[in-house]
Amino acid sequence: MTRIFSGVKPTGHLTLGNYLGAVRRWVEVDQHRADALFSIVDLHALTVEHDPARVRRLSRQAATLLLAAGLDPALCTVFVQSHVDEHTRLSYLLECTATDGELRRMIQYKEKSVRALASGESVRFSLLSYPVLMAADILAYRTDEVPVGEDQTQHVELTRDLAVRFNQRYGHTFSVPKAVRPPVAARVMDLQDPTSKMGKSHESAAGIVHLLDDADVVRKKIMRAVTDSGQEVEYDREGQPGVANLLEILAGCVAEDPAALAGAYTSYGALKRATAEAVIELLRPLRERHTVLASDPGHVDAVLKEGAERARGKARPVVDAAYRAAGLLPAG
Ligand code: TYM
Repeated sequence: MTRIFSGVKPTGHLTLGNYLGAVRRWVEVDQHRADALFSIVDLHALTVEHDPARVRRLSRQAATLLLAAGLDPALCTVFVQSHVDEHTRLSYLLECTATDGELRRMIQYKEKSVRALASGESVRFSLLSYPVLMAADILAYRTDEVPVGEDQTQHVELTRDLAVRFNQRYGHTFSVPKAVRPPVAARVMDLQDPTSKMGKSHESAAGIVHLLDDADVVRKKIMRAVTDSGQEVEYDREGQPGVANLLEILAGCVAEDPAALAGAYTSYGALKRATAEAVIELLRPLRERHTVLASDPGHVDAVLKEGAERARGKARPVVDAAYRAAGLLPAG
C-alpha cells in the first residue's frame, strides 16, 4: 500500500495557503487511498525565535484544525512529531549523509537567515539543518508520496537525494519519495503582496486569510486584495499576479480551472466578491467543527496519543534498520 507522509509546522495560525496547498487534499484524497500519516511538526517551530507557550498553543490548535478539516483517525494517523523519537534519531544519520554545501543552497534557509539577521536575531544552527530533520520525518516511514505545496519542492528533492545516497552507501534502506502537488493553488500568494507566498508568520496579517478568521474578516481581506493596473480579468501569473492569485484561490475553492474562470468575470470587484464568498463557504464547516472540537481538548489529546503510538510502531523498525546499515552496533 502506498505510504504518505506530510506535516504542518506550528509557527503561526494555519492559513488558506496551507489548506488549499496541502490539507484539503490530505482530507479529500490522501487519507482514503493510502496508509497516510500527518504530523504537527513542532520541532521545526523551534528553528526561529519562539515563545514556548505559543508553540504549545499553536500545536494543539493545528491538531484541532486538522481534525476539524476532516482528517479521520480511523483512516489515517495524526500525531505530534516530538512525541516520536525516531525523527530526531534518524535526523542525525542523515546529517552524516548531507553536505554543508547542499544545505546552504536551500532557498528557505537563505531567505529566513537573511530575515533573522536583519531583525537583529542570530541564526539558529537548526535553521540550516531543518531540511535534514524534514527528510528524516519522511524517510522514517518509507514514504512513497509527500503531498505538499510548491514551496516544499526543494526540500523533498533533497530528501530524495539523501535517500538515494544512503541506499547506495549502506544498502537499500529507504523508499525514494516524490512530492505531490495540488493541480491548482499549489502556491497561494499574499493578498497584499501577490509576488510573495501567503505565509503564517508574515508581519502583517492583512494579506493572509487564516482558517479561523470569521466571515467578515475574510471578506474584508479579500475585497482589499491588491489587484493589477489593467482592467481585464485574465489569468496571467506574470503580468497580473494579483488577479491570477484570486483566480487560483477561487479555482481551488470550486475545483475549476483558473483560466476558464477568468472569462466569467468582467470586473475585479465581481471577481473579489465571488472569491470572498467561495472562501467563506469553504471554511464555514471547518470553523464550526473547530469550535466543537476545541471544547473537548481531551479528545484531541487522545487522538494524538494513539497517533504517536501508531507512528512509533511504523518508524522504529525503519530507523533501527538504518542504524544497523550505517554500522552502529545493535543494542542487543
Ligand atoms: P508549512 O507548515 O509551512 O506548510 C504546511 C503545508 O502547507 C503548504 N503551504 C502552501 N501551499 C500553497 N500556498 C501557500 N501559500 C502555502 N503555504 C504553505 C506547504 O507547502 C506545506 O505542504 N517544512 C514544512 C513542514 C514539514 C513537512 C515535513 C512537510 C516538516 N517536515 C515532512 C512534509 C513532509 C513546512 O514548513 O510546511
